[in-house]
Amino acid sequence: MTALTLSTTAAPGLRADAIVVGVAKDSGSKSGDLVVAPGAESVDEAYDGKLADVLGTLGASGAEGEVTKLPAPSGFKAPLVLAVGLGPRPEKDAGYEAEVLRRAAGAAARALAGTKTAGFALPVADAAGTAAVGEGALLGAYSFDAYKENGKDADSRDGKAPLGEAVLLGDNAGDEAHKAAVARATALAEELNRARDLINTPPNDLNPAAFAAVAEDAAEKHGLKVQVLDEKALAEGGYGGILGVGSGSAAAPRLVKLSYTSPKAKKHLALVGKGITYDSGGISLKPAGHNETMKCDMAGAAAVFAAVVAAARLGLEVNVTGWLALAENMPSGSATRPGDVLRMFSGKTVEVLNTDAEGRLVLADALWAASQEKPDAIVDVATLTGAMVLALGSRTFGIMANDDAFRSAIHEAAEEVGEEAWPMPMPEHLRKGMDSPTADLANMGERMGGGLVAGLFLREFVGEGITWAHLDIAGPAFNESGPFGYTPKGGTGSAVRTLVRLAELAASGDLG
Ligand code: BES
Ligand code: MN
Ligand code: ZN
Repeated sequence: MTALTLSTTAAPGLRADAIVVGVAKDSGSKSGDLVVAPGAESVDEAYDGKLADVLGTLGASGAEGEVTKLPAPSGFKAPLVLAVGLGPRPEKDAGYEAEVLRRAAGAAARALAGTKTAGFALPVADAAGTAAVGEGALLGAYSFDAYKENGKDADSRDGKAPLGEAVLLGDNAGDEAHKAAVARATALAEELNRARDLINTPPNDLNPAAFAAVAEDAAEKHGLKVQVLDEKALAEGGYGGILGVGSGSAAAPRLVKLSYTSPKAKKHLALVGKGITYDSGGISLKPAGHNETMKCDMAGAAAVFAAVVAAARLGLEVNVTGWLALAENMPSGSATRPGDVLRMFSGKTVEVLNTDAEGRLVLADALWAASQEKPDAIVDVATLTGAMVLALGSRTFGIMANDDAFRSAIHEAAEEVGEEAWPMPMPEHLRKGMDSPTADLANMGERMGGGLVAGLFLREFVGEGITWAHLDIAGPAFNESGPFGYTPKGGTGSAVRTLVRLAELAASGDLG
């Protein structure tokens, strides 16, 4: 992966392939529309203070994510200057928002694929700025090339290898807070990128057992406790939801429990992830056009996995247990049929009316299992419903909860780390749509508000009195259009940063 370092070297003297500077729109100014952002003063000086004019001549507009390359001024060790658009210049002294820096660094890192080293001279005012540029660079440089003949992601970066090293330039490079920001950004981005790798891995290579093996490896490497329930253990334990979903596949399901414990922990956070390694729909088969990207249906489990490992790497003073509910949803002679009744781990019975509503079935068992430990809070993450994508689009995840304050805290945490999220209601009247003549409830209800119905189903499997939230990441988990900012095509790592932030808040006693 791309390396992240700090340096006090002035931009002209940095041995690198490129120097990244920021350019903003300054509509208020008389001199022109563009302004070079702070942090790049030495670069601007080398262009005789005319860098903004030069960029204007080259057609730059300062729009967010716009990339303009130009030859470096004479005397520079680096041959290239890359100006990245930051959007509108902030109000005087207000400073650039972290997310603006994250996206700009991401766009620049992506544009620098094929180069070894780049110096980033973006407007960083404090350690939070360093964190944002660092995260953006590492996340934006990501590429998934494991299946490319030449080992390169030819699709999104013209066959070029990702940027080798991002050097963050600034006077504060020696500062402990900035060093800590780089360490955090590195751990976070590495684990988030690993989640992206898992999501992008084709389902013939990542089935439930393979995912469980990846978790076991990580547990060994990072000193986590791991427990894997295979199909036999699941049967003995009565995990009817996970078994019912997995019964159609030749690749048996798994329930993975991954525990990070800190000796200083005062709180216990449980994270539950939907891990459908492929969702064909089962007997209620999805039509062509709806199943091509369904390898992404384990993105919730990937996010939970990444967050637990990141919490361990960051040494957070909180206990975090990750539950990965892994199954492949396939049609076959042994598959669950619409009309079957499953006896869930909680003891409740569920009539399966649509085998494509499988996520809630595996999550139900994992939520109940998580509840048995009486954690302070449970957060589940799932690519659960197409309805949520219709409601919120492809970049925003929905948050539901049995506690208003907890839902708000998660929304705030998401905003803080630069993830788009929105609170969704849990209207009680939708519950009766899941009444079943045969079983305790059905896995389907009213079609309208389908994302909310799914949330109400999950609520039935959360232990009494436990604070719980559900993140439906069906929209943002997998980017089917072009890359933007630090978000690549394919698996995005949605919810990882929010989950890690929640663990940090729980550690500092600031989460409920
Ligand atoms: N994995 C899908 C949801 C999904 C849709 C994820 C689009 C990512 C992108 C889920 O298992 C599913 O099929 N949900 C059904 C539920 C319905 C049958 C009640 C849906 O949303 O159509
Ligand atoms: Mn489905
Ligand atoms: Zn699914």
